[in-house]
Amino acid sequence: MTIIDGKQLASDIKEEIATEVKKIAEAGGKIPHLAAVLVGEDAASQAYVRNKVRSCEKVGFKSTMVTKDTSLTQSELMDIIDKLNKDDDIDGFIVQLPLPKHLDEVAVTLAIDPKKDVDGFHPMNFGRMAQGLPCYLPATPFGILQMLERYKIDVEGKECVVLGRSNIVGTPISILLSRKASPGNATVVLCHSRTQNLVDYTRRADILIVALGRPEMITADMVKKGVVIIDVGINRVDDETAKRGYRLKGDVKFDEVSKLASFITPVPGGVGPMTVTSLLMNTLKASRKEIYG
Ligand code: GUN
Repeated sequence: MTIIDGKQLASDIKEEIATEVKKIAEAGGKIPHLAAVLVGEDAASQAYVRNKVRSCEKVGFKSTMVTKDTSLTQSELMDIIDKLNKDDDIDGFIVQLPLPKHLDEVAVTLAIDPKKDVDGFHPMNFGRMAQGLPCYLPATPFGILQMLERYKIDVEGKECVVLGRSNIVGTPISILLSRKASPGNATVVLCHSRTQNLVDYTRRADILIVALGRPEMITADMVKKGVVIIDVGINRVDDETAKRGYRLKGDVKFDEVSKLASFITPVPGGVGPMTVTSLLMNTLKASRKEIYG
């Protein structure tokens, strides 16, 4: 059994990006610049955005953080997006989700210029992804592809079962792995809350990608020997003995499932660190105008 070390992989990729940034700087080129918009006081979102900004600094990017409190109105948020769309120094930007309830996430996603949509959430990027055209891939699926590729995991012709159909993980990764591409060419089944007899699918899986947000839901009796497990869950589970009062748990019961798996991602230290790396890779592409010219 091999543990897929997302932390190490992300650190290697960040070093590669930092080397590229140095080359750009030496040649007098434009330093990639990412902006992040954070609205409200959600603790997890604050931590994610801080991490994104810190990672930008680490690789030598410029970063701008726009922080607003929950009272921000929809039209004020649209004005911020409009300014970021028009700012020539900003190569790409993200609006951290979830937004406070009174704000319209769909309108926000549609307002971001697809050229600067380094989250890959705009339907233009999503549609291009589905058709195999150059685009910004969403961070988590892009991170999963990197893991499969760099650990040389055989995907072609395999049965890949995806649990969860969100717009940002389950649906895009199911499209990507079924594409005629590498990694890809898998036979993909997308399971969700209305799937009947879930174990019939999970037990068949050569590759099981779990993005349900339910701590330790996948147990050893649900998988077959040799399965590749990609655990996307990051669940805060209360634990008084932990320093912060909670522990991070994946959607997979690691201790028992790892005994059967050929490859498995841990939580924390698996898929999580790869998502920031994806964002940095997209921002580098944006600054080089690789996708849209
Ligand atoms: N919330 C959870 N994941 C993401 C992400 O990848 N991007 C944004 N903008 N918000 C998120």
